[in-house]
Amino acid sequence: MKFYIATDHAGFHYKEEVKEYIRSKGHQIVDLGPETTDRVDYPDYGRKCAEAVKADEGSYGIVICGTGIGISMAANKVPGIRAALCHDAYTATMARAHNNAQILAFGERVVGMGVVYSMIDAFIHTPFEGGRHERRVEKIDAIDEAYKK
Ligand code: RB5
Repeated sequence: MKFYIATDHAGFHYKEEVKEYIRSKGHQIVDLGPETTDRVDYPDYGRKCAEAVKADEGSYGIVICGTGIGISMAANKVPGIRAALCHDAYTATMARAHNNAQILAFGERVVGMGVVYSMIDAFIHTPFEGGRHERRVEKIDAIDEAYKK
């Protein structure tokens, strides 16, 4: 699998560990920044990751801020992108199985690295179930269409 990762300053400290973990599992990960711990605005990085995932079909993303809330909100503004704010392996599993999320979001101030590893494993190993969930995901995408200028 190919991943893109972006954080703000409050999610920065987990970025290297997450990159290392993804690579240790045999997957590719592209770092979209930031490069230092200087304060940055989470909407810039949520958007950057979502746009990269949208432009590279079949790719996935990981976004991290303090809570995961702001950066996931920003990522979800990119039409067609489904970023899921997860808190544990169960929510990460369901984000893939039922919501076909392309982006995993979480908060560095909320979950420890052990939980992060379990969420990444769940996200990587869970396929979208399709079936009745397909229709619901299509309805999410239809909202984007309805608000296109
Ligand atoms: C930054 O202090 C913090 O507001 C941000 O990382 C995030 O938690 C916002 O949702």
